[in-house]
Amino acid sequence: MMTNGILNRRTNDLSYPENFYMKPMHIKELNRVVELQKYVYNNLPDKNVLFMDSYEEMFDDMKSGAKIIGVFNEANNLIAYRYISFPGLDSKSLAYDIDLPKSQMAKVVHLETTVVHPEYRGNALQSITLQYAAEEVETLGYRHLLCTVSPQNMFSLYNIMKNGLKIKALKRKYSSSENPDGLWRFILHKDMAIESYNKPISSYMSGLENFDEQKGLIDRGYIGFNIFRENRLLNYAKFGDVSYQGIPA
Ligand SMILES: CC(C)(COP(=O)(O)OP(=O)(O)OC[C@H]1O[C@@H](n2cnc3c(N)ncnc32)[C@H](O)[C@@H]1OP(=O)(O)O)[C@@H](O)C(=O)NCCC(=O)NCCS
Repeated sequence: MMTNGILNRRTNDLSYPENFYMKPMHIKELNRVVELQKYVYNNLPDKNVLFMDSYEEMFDDMKSGAKIIGVFNEANNLIAYRYISFPGLDSKSLAYDIDLPKSQMAKVVHLETTVVHPEYRGNALQSITLQYAAEEVETLGYRHLLCTVSPQNMFSLYNIMKNGLKIKALKRKYSSSENPDGLWRFILHKDMAIESYNKPISSYMSGLENFDEQKGLIDRGYIGFNIFRENRLLNYAKFGDVSYQGIPA
């Protein structure tokens, strides 16, 4: 598994190569994670795309097994991270949102937040950390990757779908005092045991912003299969009546 390499750092008009390495972070380093998250959030034009995790939430989560993979530059500064958690039967599990059979809930991994420092974007660090995390958890016996992505977050949605996660639900999540109705999120899923899909029995193109149409398709058993970034279209496909091939309830 690749854990280090060379990336391109971009500051204003300059661009230069730098070494980087990846490693799981210790709970004692959590303040560095929170600091990077805050910096990235403050620099986001649309704050709705990133739901911030508090220090306390991440601390408690790490105590119960969640992991954070850190990406560091050659000066050992944290430049990106990926946070993953293992919800088990907890009510916050996204497995409930996609009606995953109960027998699978212990094998679910949540891809929580990923952030990349603006100067280090464009190095596919979101994908690289996803692949690192997926390999790690698969060897530990986990099978299902689940995450939420904002329909407004084209960069993230594209990267997540490129890595084989499919849209299984579209709904409002994360209600808070500022946003009592919650925020629109796609819920994406990848069953790592599925090597390839059969030919779909039906397929349909929908505009990324067309939520009603997409919800209708999902209700009728379609899953969001591919994304066409340039024209903001999603390809929804249907694979017969069995949504979770062969998994017993
Ligand atoms: C989503 C995110 C992690 C992707 O970072 P990444 O892995 O570096 O992205 P990629 O390498 O796939 O970038 C591909 C291209 O899109 C550009 N890009 C990526 N994210 C961008 C952003 N937020 N704003 C503008 N351009 C962006 C890159 O510069 C690159 O451009 P290039 O092809 O001209 O080089 C990063 O944008 C980010 O930290 N966003 C804020 C936090 C967030 O939304 N996280 C995901 C939800 S938890």
